[in-house]
Amino acid sequence: MLKDLVLANRSCRGYDYSRKVTRDELLEMIDITRHAAAGVNMQPLKYYLIYDDEKADLITSMVKFGANLPELGLPFKGTEPPAYIIMCHDKEVNPAVDFFRCDIGICAQTITLAATEMGLAGCMIGNYNKDKVSEALGLDERFSVELIISIGKSIEEVKIVDLEEGQSHKYYRDENGIHCVPKRKLEDIIIND
Ligand SMILES: Cc1cc2nc3c(=O)[nH]c(=O)nc-3n(C[C@H](O)[C@H](O)[C@H](O)COP(=O)(O)O)c2cc1C
Repeated sequence: MLKDLVLANRSCRGYDYSRKVTRDELLEMIDITRHAAAGVNMQPLKYYLIYDDEKADLITSMVKFGANLPELGLPFKGTEPPAYIIMCHDKEVNPAVDFFRCDIGICAQTITLAATEMGLAGCMIGNYNKDKVSEALGLDERFSVELIISIGKSIEEVKIVDLEEGQSHKYYRDENGIHCVPKRKLEDIIIND
């Protein structure tokens, strides 16, 4: 069921590094997301696939995981992501990067849902320096790096908890190390009767 898949699709910041992700697996995720809705059907998003240790480690050194839990220094050593998808906007398709921001979200969610269905997990990452990532990958300036998604086999335990009105929205780890993600309740997000 779609709801089960969405509930299972949690941001992951700890991976089985020995479980490599293949180019074919990443291609399957992109093949699914390329069918998603797209503003004016322009489809300016293109993808740089990373599935070798050297490049994956390089990206790991350039992104920040778990800003709400800085004391943990996630990912823990040895649990780094073995793969990444670098989502880029091709300005030669259309230069209006801001106009297509919704496309990025739609495609990113579709990719992580696909990963979850494949028994893998992902984390969308917006916390990185665009220019440095672009330079490290030798990307042509027509490509603007819009979002990075880590991919791999999760070793984390994650649960959703109700976010009561007035409580903190910040995710946290409980006394057993379980990653808890507060989500607003249904009745709190419907505006009208
Ligand atoms: C646009 C966007 C950017 C994000 N950037 C980061 C990031 O830089 N680092 C990180 O660890 N998580 C990042 N996340 C993941 C969120 O922290 C995560 O979605 C949130 O804590 C809720 O957890 P959930 O995805 O399991 O529902 C990002 C999520 C989105 C949608």
